[in-house]
Amino acid sequence: MSSTQAANAQYLADYRPYPFILDQTVLDFALSPDATEVTATLSLRPREAVEDLVLDGGRGVELLSLDIDGRAPDPAHVRRDGESLTIAAAALPDAPFALTTRVRIDPSANTAFEGLYISGGIFCTQCEAEGFRHITFYPDRPDVMAPFRVTIRSDKPVLLSNGNPVAIRDGFAEWNDPWPKPAYLFALVAGDLVAVSDRFTTRSGRRVDLNVWVRPGDQDRAGFAMQSLIKSMRWDEDVYGREYDLDVFNMVAVDDFNMGAMENKGLNIFNSKLVLASPETATDADYERIEAVIAHEYFHNWTGNRITCRDWFQLCLKEGLTVFRDQQFTADMRSAPVKRIEDVHTLRARQFREDQGPLAHPVRPERYEEINNFYTATVYEKGAELIGMLKRLVGDDGYASALDLYFDRHDGEAATIEDWLAVFQDATGRDLTQFKRWYTDAGTPHLTMTEDWDAGDRGGRLTLNFTQHTPPTPGQDDKPPRVIPIAVGLIGPNGDEVQPTRMLEMTEARQSFTFDGLGARPVVSALRGFSAPVILDRPIDDRNRAFLLAHDTDPFARWEAGRDLAMSALMSLAQGGDAGADFIDAIGRLAADRDADPAFRALCLMLPGEEEIATALAARGATPDPDAIHAAREDLARRVAEAHADLLARLYDAMEVPGPYSPDADAAARRSLRIAALGLLNRIDRGDRAEVLFGTAGNMTERMAALNCLIRRGRGQAALQALHDRFGDNRLVMDKWFSVQVMAAPPQDAVAVATQLAARRDFDWKNPNRFRALLGGLAANHAGFHAADGSGYDFTADWLMKMDGANPQIAARMSTAFETWPRYDKGRRDRALSALQRIAAMPDISRNLREMVSRMIA
Ligand code: ARG
Ligand code: ZN
Repeated sequence: MSSTQAANAQYLADYRPYPFILDQTVLDFALSPDATEVTATLSLRPREAVEDLVLDGGRGVELLSLDIDGRAPDPAHVRRDGESLTIAAAALPDAPFALTTRVRIDPSANTAFEGLYISGGIFCTQCEAEGFRHITFYPDRPDVMAPFRVTIRSDKPVLLSNGNPVAIRDGFAEWNDPWPKPAYLFALVAGDLVAVSDRFTTRSGRRVDLNVWVRPGDQDRAGFAMQSLIKSMRWDEDVYGREYDLDVFNMVAVDDFNMGAMENKGLNIFNSKLVLASPETATDADYERIEAVIAHEYFHNWTGNRITCRDWFQLCLKEGLTVFRDQQFTADMRSAPVKRIEDVHTLRARQFREDQGPLAHPVRPERYEEINNFYTATVYEKGAELIGMLKRLVGDDGYASALDLYFDRHDGEAATIEDWLAVFQDATGRDLTQFKRWYTDAGTPHLTMTEDWDAGDRGGRLTLNFTQHTPPTPGQDDKPPRVIPIAVGLIGPNGDEVQPTRMLEMTEARQSFTFDGLGARPVVSALRGFSAPVILDRPIDDRNRAFLLAHDTDPFARWEAGRDLAMSALMSLAQGGDAGADFIDAIGRLAADRDADPAFRALCLMLPGEEEIATALAARGATPDPDAIHAAREDLARRVAEAHADLLARLYDAMEVPGPYSPDADAAARRSLRIAALGLLNRIDRGDRAEVLFGTAGNMTERMAALNCLIRRGRGQAALQALHDRFGDNRLVMDKWFSVQVMAAPPQDAVAVATQLAARRDFDWKNPNRFRALLGGLAANHAGFHAADGSGYDFTADWLMKMDGANPQIAARMSTAFETWPRYDKGRRDRALSALQRIAAMPDISRNLREMVSRMIA
């Protein structure tokens, strides 16, 4: 490490293999809430010459004893600091040896939910990325892999760990995981739990016991999770040829969880909101997300566990690929076009936003201070986009053979992005040197496209001229051109497709492509399927956008044309202009189009969100004004509602789903169109429909939609009270109750509403879901969070500082509410900056939050 680099930073360039090989890990846990004893026996041998043995281990780990091959070393050879334990080479044999440590930890004091902690009386663990070091001393890095044997002593009735059960009796359990794994995949659960159980037979005939473990009383909400697991297991066999490899697969739901879920080998642990679902408590969106996250964690068994990451810089190797796989899965289970649109929508809302500001980083970062700060939209969602692009570039067959080679070549290993790209090069013969820039260079490329038309004598020629440019991001000023797959189709003037999708491969800063033999000048459908994560700029008027919205054969491009039309109407309104009749007409035609999927029509009726509008404006170099954006969007929604009042009312009635609730894609699609219509009608019917719906809805999807509408009309009080009366003891529903009030509040009231809610006794702020519901709700109220007086910033900063003392990961994650601050006006910038500086000046600030804030104010 050079001396100019920050003392705490880790650098990709500094990688070196661990100097010892770990052949086996044996752990014994004597569980007790405030004094758990962990005995660890590590079978180690020097990789080459004996060096000092450095084990990770945090401050909360109290060392009780240590021996090497049964003998305590000379204390002079053992050194302890706040983060590690070092045993001098002089105390180690030049041969295989067994290191045994006994430590004491206090799970009850663990409010950071990292390592071993207690959630609602259940002992559970979260070890990714570096949580295992809070359990015992260990080489806590993903390239040190070993089989684990684990014994648990506890009076809790259910005792679980990774792998297969060896012996289970009262107060004792022994588990054996034969597959070598890094410590971050270790898990332990002990509690009073009940299982929903099923069985799966793999295609080679292995019988697997499946369990979804929940708290007694929650069994009736775990069935959907089980069905999702079974679908995922079958899909991974069918599509990727990947079979499960243990005799049992356990899933556990816990209420306190920092992220969504975790793919621990054979023992996936979930945030309870991603497992528990009933029609009365979960929305269609919840169901879809549960199915996707269960699949995601299951798919990690091959992409993440069997093949893991060499170091945390390679995080996208497992996350980008596994997100891509879960997206494919959802596309197969539901509507592929709708899923693609939803994914692009999230990518833009979260990743483009991140890429545009001070937190921009490459899909494979080269430096970090706190790795938990890099579980980002860039690593996950952009990481998945890169895989989609690779697949487009090498074709479906090329992709399939590259993946087969990947599993063959790297099974049991800790791999890198270089390994990943090499597999594609070797399987397809394609040189991916330029493609690699997508992994190393941050920022969203801006692509421009212009057209030249030459009518000619024997057929017309259309030339498409592209330029690409990627704006600077922190630490990266110049970005060489990347390879960009641009999917293009051409639509003739009569609405027929005259050129089916052709994949153009742009590799230069500027490049042209021609289409010959055309009868008449076509309309270009560009970047079909969102073939690359770029911002496309093209001169196109509203008439042609409306034409594409009506005729494009590519559903994404069609939706995008509607989106562009809406944006152009919004821009015009925000500048005091007119709404653009093209948009209102076109959207009406689409909403009425009975041939189109209701979910697709619903997506088209949804106006761009305020955050999305701000990001689009900033990408064009404008300074977004949150109040003007809010007003313009409200104005446009009202105009659409007025123009199509009858049509929307008919849709609202027609899309009612009769019979008992089912979360399947068709029923959810109809409800989504119904709710989209309701949201618009709500602007002109004073909220009357919403009131009726709230009182009669038999499912949470419609109930929440109605509540949202009522709050927006300033008449939510009775409904809020009713929801609280009925579901006050259901944490997941109450999370929704908290967030909707802040999210749907008029911007000028949002901070006051948040302040009131935060003072309630049931604002259990140490619970990550509850904290996120409130603070995330405020951040999602764009004009409320960015209140001109800075009250949103101050409120958020106060709570981040408080949370940092209990749970630094959550504080750091929620601090991203500020990540867009530099794009606003001077008044807001000054206020946001002073809030950030106040956080930075906090005494005892965590490494997590400090890194985030210092990147944001750099
Ligand atoms: N690997 C998990 C997933 O994406 C995420 C866990 C991250 N946890 C954390 N504390 N950084 O499925
Ligand atoms: Zn993951």
